[in-house]
Order: sequence, then structure tokens, then C-alpha cells
Amino acid sequence: MVSYTLKVNGKERQISADEDTPLLWILRDELNLVGTKFGCGIGQCGACTVHINGQANRSCLLKAAALEGMEITTIEGLATDDTLHPVQEAWKEHDVPQCGYCQAGQIMTAASFLAENPAPSGDEIRQAMHGNICRCAAYNRIEKAVATAAK
Ligand code: FES
Repeated sequence: MVSYTLKVNGKERQISADEDTPLLWILRDELNLVGTKFGCGIGQCGACTVHINGQANRSCLLKAAALEGMEITTIEGLATDDTLHPVQEAWKEHDVPQCGYCQAGQIMTAASFLAENPAPSGDEIRQAMHGNICRCAAYNRIEKAVATAAK
């Protein structure tokens, strides 16, 4: 066991866990931030995507103990002051989710992408989102919502 401090959604959180525990399981099991989902555990599906210092990252692949001092944002922390992030608003407008399981990861990927490329082409959106798998195949609505959020 090791002890360390993580900054998650703007709050310092004290953690005691095995040294190798992935961030995904710290978020879900220790901090009860269950919006971040387990899909594959091997970096292939994107369901576990969170932001590390604003960049989309797969939390199943990151050792949490190595993230001290970094800003970790989960889907629970994306809205600010009770105002939804523009990507969340666009998701509502386009009624994107079907089963909903992959949606937190999709939204976190889209938010990070649009922060870097606020006026993307359709091809750029598809390229940016293509690593986030949706088993309901809601890809058309996802692409439309990302385009709406970019406006
Ligand atoms: Fe992390 Fe699939 S659970 S990429």
C-alpha cells in the first residue's frame, strides 16, 4: 500500500491503495466517481476517458500513484457552477445516448478535442472520436453533437 494525494475535480483527495492500482479503480472504488466506466481495461474502448491536465487519457492505463500534482477531471467535474459544458448541452440537444455506457468517455474525449480544435471539420471530428467505441453505434449523433458543441 502507498498513500498519496490526487486532485480530482478541483478537490484534494487522500488515497491509500496498492501502488499499481489504475486511476479508473481509484475513481470508481475509492472516490465513488462512477461516471467513468470500465469497458475493456486495456486502452481499447475509451469508456474510461478522463482529463489529465486537460488532455483526454484512458484511466484504465494510468497508475494513479503517478498522478500526484496533476489536475484530474472526470465527467462529474466537467460542468462548472451548475452550468453544463457545451459538449454536454449538445449531447442533450441531439439526444445522443442509447444505452449510455460509453457516453462519459465520449464526452470527455470530445471536450478535450474541442479545447484544442474549436472549429473542426467533419473528418477531424471522426478522426478524434474514432477511438471511442459505442456498441449501440450512435456515431452519427455523436458526430452531430460534437459539431454542434463546436459552434
Ligand atoms: Fe479503458 Fe476501455 S476501459 S480504454
